[in-house]
Amino acid sequence: MKGDFAMCGIVGYIGEENATPFLLDGLSRLEYRGYDSAGIAVYDGQKIVVEKTAGRLEALKQKLEHNPPAGHAGVGHTRWATHGRPSDRNSHPHSSCDGKFIVVHNGIIENYLELKEALLSEGYTFTSETDTEVVAQLMQKHYTGDLLGTVRKVLAIIEGSYSLVFMSAYQPDRLICTKKDNPLVIGLGERANYIASDIPAIIAKTRRTYILSDGETAIVTKDSVRIENSKGEPIDKKEFVVTWNAQAAEKGGYEHFMIKEIYDQPKAVRDTLSGRIGKDGHSVVFEELSWTAREMEKIRKIFIVACGTAYHAGMVGKHYIEQLTRVPVETDIASEFRYRAPIVGSDCLLIVVSQSGETSDTLAALKEAKRLGAQTLAITNVVDSSIAREAGKALYTYAGPEIAVASTKAYTTQIMVLLLLAVYMAQLSGSTQERRLKEIVAEIKCMPERIHKLLEDVDPIKVFAQQYAASEDVFFIGRLLDYAVALEGSLKLKEISYIHAEAYAAGELKHGTLALIVAGTPVIALATQEEVYEKTLSNIKEVKARDALVIGIAMENDANIEKYVDHAVYIPHTDKYLAPVLAVIPLQLLAYYAALSRGCNVDMPRNLAKSVTVE
Ligand code: G6P
Repeated sequence: MKGDFAMCGIVGYIGEENATPFLLDGLSRLEYRGYDSAGIAVYDGQKIVVEKTAGRLEALKQKLEHNPPAGHAGVGHTRWATHGRPSDRNSHPHSSCDGKFIVVHNGIIENYLELKEALLSEGYTFTSETDTEVVAQLMQKHYTGDLLGTVRKVLAIIEGSYSLVFMSAYQPDRLICTKKDNPLVIGLGERANYIASDIPAIIAKTRRTYILSDGETAIVTKDSVRIENSKGEPIDKKEFVVTWNAQAAEKGGYEHFMIKEIYDQPKAVRDTLSGRIGKDGHSVVFEELSWTAREMEKIRKIFIVACGTAYHAGMVGKHYIEQLTRVPVETDIASEFRYRAPIVGSDCLLIVVSQSGETSDTLAALKEAKRLGAQTLAITNVVDSSIAREAGKALYTYAGPEIAVASTKAYTTQIMVLLLLAVYMAQLSGSTQERRLKEIVAEIKCMPERIHKLLEDVDPIKVFAQQYAASEDVFFIGRLLDYAVALEGSLKLKEISYIHAEAYAAGELKHGTLALIVAGTPVIALATQEEVYEKTLSNIKEVKARDALVIGIAMENDANIEKYVDHAVYIPHTDKYLAPVLAVIPLQLLAYYAALSRGCNVDMPRNLAKSVTVE
């Protein structure tokens, strides 16, 4: 059985306090990275005690309730299996046969099978089916009294992607960690240091961090962190100070992260806009880019490549860039792009969009475009993420950590950055009248306030969500930008409520799918785009003629829509380009409340993970 368990959360602690409380707390903040099994290993002063179990972190906590391991150094792991069943013995941490070496791992050891066979023939016994256990056994095999030297030897043998933390009973005063293609952060505390896959795990303890880059190895003790490059030379790493407050990574009083993150949107959008509107109040500035008109002229074609919700944001972005700059834009799903021999060259710009900045398919597409000579630009929410570092340039969304698997505030901020980018490009190329650009920027600036207003009264949406919660199929229709939003609304509903949903370009329904609309079928119709408004009304009539139950999403000054639909949901009036940012919010709420009514686990929907670092 293949043992590539690649989406996981890692924590480590070394200090003067008991490690276990931090390990469990840190893991609970990383559960979005994986949640089918969990484990910790703690050095108790004599030996390393490993406790692990299949199931959610809660299962591990219950197991440890009466006799938790105690000690000043430890590591922990929460796992999400991609192949093979979650089980106790496949859970991390993994140990060497002699129990002297412990490893937690996020990633895939690609050559583990041949390594395992060789180790088996030398008499090593394995207790799990994982690739990771090979690393622990290799540590035992190559250990010569020098822990760091042994880690280096093992790193030279293994191939694949990883973030790894090593602990050894021989030198329990230190943890050694390293990474390649998977994230790892070190938190700097007072007489304690922390290691984690991601910042939310450590910000309750410290804001001072080092974000490790590929190939770097850190030797972490309770009062020192030494970082070396891949050649073993010490490096002077710059500290990254986290500006999110501790609460921003927690639920902040809401029942779920998803609803908290929906309500975070006015702030997330405000933060994303900050510093990007010039002093004149009407032009877009991107200090990160500082392109010239000449550079802009060289771009003949743009690709926007992403996965999931970020892909849907990309579809909105295509519309903006094409309309405002008249440069052709293709959107691609990242897992398709790299295998379809895309026609990409040095006159192309590839924009990747990724909340996490770690999505494996998106990263691979980015690398492929670079190989083909394209210029590259990342739009991502995670500073210094793999995608941000790989891309030629990066524009950040400042949505703050997004924990719920279903993406909400990342999507709206991605759209904002894409619109800012389109305006920025149009400013350079002179392809759109200045007056029109000013109008758009004026409306962009109003967005935090408009979203806030929209979120003030969501009661009708709660009622509809309860009504629709028993449905088996829901349809979303819209044209142009409304169609892109329909796709995202449909994905949200499917992801968290498990109601089957389809999004259709409203004009396409009659080419087949109309047959599925019967009496009582819920149809969510978006009608915010003025140039196709009448056409959309005709499509609404088509489904009403089949007795569908229609919710219309329209702008608040629309006096017409109520005549055509069963229920109308109004968004504040805005420019047609900004309508997606507002129109998606009732759809996010509809999905949320429908999922609640159906008793679903909103933040951690089955079979999905927040950050997909496998192909
Ligand atoms: C996963 C998540 C989605 C997300 C997609 C892309 O599938 O469940 O919500 O949209 O990955 O993630 P990214 O971090 O690249 O935006």
